[in-house]
Amino acid sequence: MTTSVTTATIRPWRLDCHVAAGDDGGAADELRRSLTATSPTISPRWFYDDVGCTLFERITDLAEYYQTRTEQALLDARMDDVLGSVRATELVEIGSGAATKTRAILDAMSRAGTLDRYVPFDISPGIIARSASELAAAYPGLRVHGVAGDFGRHLGKIPRRPADGTRLVAFLGSTLGNLDRTARRSMVKRLARLLKPGDALLMGTDLAHDPAVLIKAYDDEPGVTAQFNRNIIRHVNRVFEGDADPDDFVHAPRWNARASRIEMHLRALTDIHWSLPGLGISVEIAKGHTIRTEISCKFTREEIEGLYGAAGLVPQSWDEDALGRYAVSVAVRP
Ligand code: SAH
Ligand code: AVI
Repeated sequence: MTTSVTTATIRPWRLDCHVAAGDDGGAADELRRSLTATSPTISPRWFYDDVGCTLFERITDLAEYYQTRTEQALLDARMDDVLGSVRATELVEIGSGAATKTRAILDAMSRAGTLDRYVPFDISPGIIARSASELAAAYPGLRVHGVAGDFGRHLGKIPRRPADGTRLVAFLGSTLGNLDRTARRSMVKRLARLLKPGDALLMGTDLAHDPAVLIKAYDDEPGVTAQFNRNIIRHVNRVFEGDADPDDFVHAPRWNARASRIEMHLRALTDIHWSLPGLGISVEIAKGHTIRTEISCKFTREEIEGLYGAAGLVPQSWDEDALGRYAVSVAVRP
């Protein structure tokens, strides 16, 4: 199939779009396979339609979801030092979302006098359009070149690195944890390929700690994460003309200690026959059975530094909060 590419230049920012509703060269095939497997799953990429992006932003404000404010505090405290050694002229951000914490990085680049270009990369064109226009307005002179794509398929669409500059790639929010072990290794290697000697990779990662605190972060009292989880059904219905009722599912997060990960599931409250003509399938889910919608792995320092090493990068800094719940780390391409 041919992926449609739309390039819109709406000054002062630009957006290249490599994702269309439905398929973008493999997403529909992957979903058909994963939904018809013995234990059905849906990739978390399907959380992020416009409604899902808004619900995720609400999650980041929840008392229970300590991850975002902890990462923000670490970035606020550490970015001047990071920019002191990596004189980045360009920030490429993978899974940039609302790009709120991004400002801590752009501010430090601005203070260092090096800020030139920002490249947000996300599956959601809508959220890039919003953040790109906000950031272009907030940082006069900043060149913003957004890329809407799937980080599993389209990292090659990221614009060429400036020949005489330094690139910093950021992968924040512990989105790395939404990938399984094999995909994580491949992801960090592919991110490392975006770097030349002297460039750096910055990652924010959630750490393994008290399971009670972790489970609460995915099972908040107001029920926002439950809405976020059920919205995946609505999104898949819309794109593939499906007929499942999101209210026939209940949000079911669990801690998998062996794999050190939270798993988000949707448990069927009744026998469900989900017809998806756009995918050419119907899915049967018996009452009490689940669809897994997300894994969110929790890391150790050794694991993250092992991933850097396997990708040919050299760990440069590691900072975690006083409670040992979250880390921001930097590795450089030697
Ligand atoms: N970095 C932000 C957002 C994290 S939420 C933060 O830390 O708050 C995860 C982000 O990754 C969302 O914006 C989502 O749209 C994006 N995303 C999820 N799966 C993706 C994929 N396969 N390819 C590209 N972006 C993806
Ligand atoms: C984007 N990602 C790292 C979030 C996480 O914590 O795994 C998504 C999320 N799912 C439920 N709450 C937040």
